[in-house]
Amino acid sequence: MTFPRSSMQTLFKYLLFGVPLYIFIGAPLLKIVAPSFYGSSDLANYQSFENTDALVFPDNNLVCAPHSYNVRVLSREPLVVYIDGFLSRNEAQHLVNAAEENYKPSTIFTGEEESFDATIRNSSKAQLPRDNAVQCIEARARDFQGWRPDVYIEKLWAQRYVAGGHYTYHYDWSGEVGPRRGGRLSTFMVYLDDNCTGGGTNFPRLQRPPEQKWCDVLDCSSTTPADEQGITFKPVKGNAVYWENFTPDGRGYEETWHAGLPVRSGVKVGLNIWSWYQPYLKIPTAKA
Ligand SMILES: *[C@@H]1O[C@H](CO)[C@@H](O)[C@H](O)[C@H]1NC(C)=O
Ligand SMILES: *[C@@H]1O[C@H](CO)[C@@H](O)[C@H](O)[C@H]1NC(C)=O
Repeated sequence: MTFPRSSMQTLFKYLLFGVPLYIFIGAPLLKIVAPSFYGSSDLANYQSFENTDALVFPDNNLVCAPHSYNVRVLSREPLVVYIDGFLSRNEAQHLVNAAEENYKPSTIFTGEEESFDATIRNSSKAQLPRDNAVQCIEARARDFQGWRPDVYIEKLWAQRYVAGGHYTYHYDWSGEVGPRRGGRLSTFMVYLDDNCTGGGTNFPRLQRPPEQKWCDVLDCSSTTPADEQGITFKPVKGNAVYWENFTPDGRGYEETWHAGLPVRSGVKVGLNIWSWYQPYLKIPTAKA
């Protein structure tokens, strides 16, 4: 078969431009649009495209002041632990102040893209600069979970809710069921500021322990709206709720369905600490 010279040139041009275009546009786009395609055939690259910027890598020379807290286990299956004094009041206030300048509207992440919808999530978020205090909190959150290989903390964000602010019922596993695919293994919901009414964290599928002693942190009031089921953690500055999102065999726990109830007055500031399982992550080498 022979081609006229002009169409050979055209073909050559397409090839010349097409190859770099595929590399620079096609390949990254494909990973964003169809990560599961890469998940099966190219595990070494899976998720490394989006997460190294969002995750933090520990500094081995980090020095932290001693800190202690108290824990109470609310549920073993799924594991839900209440942590009194996870942050000192000074640490919580430091983070409130550090976030102050940086707030912007919160987005929701569907597993494919980020979007803004105030009917689902109405709050502002601020990334916390990684000063010594923040890095020590990252390290504390990592230590709390016991050593687990390939688990990384997501960069810390403060979330601020004013009157009318809320986050409707959702799971934290980020649209990706199964840790093999790099989900959010665990969540810390830390309360940084609690000068508000409303704004509790509601888990409709968890049961309230019968003991009255939980009523210091759970909403036990008889005025609780009838449509509010399960348990509601009251925001208490410096305290945290920790839970695990996946069963050991990789199914998401349905009991972790939860919401940030509307703040009725005042301001609530929360801190989410999420831990990702990322077995195929390429760790950036230029990390101080
Ligand atoms: C979102 O919160 C603001 C207060 O920051 C409130 O005025 C507004 O009504 C809320 N919007 C929705 C859709 O809940
Ligand atoms: C708490 O909120 C009230 C009113 O909402 C305000 O008057 C008071 O100054 C706040 N306290 C602190 C410590 O921010």
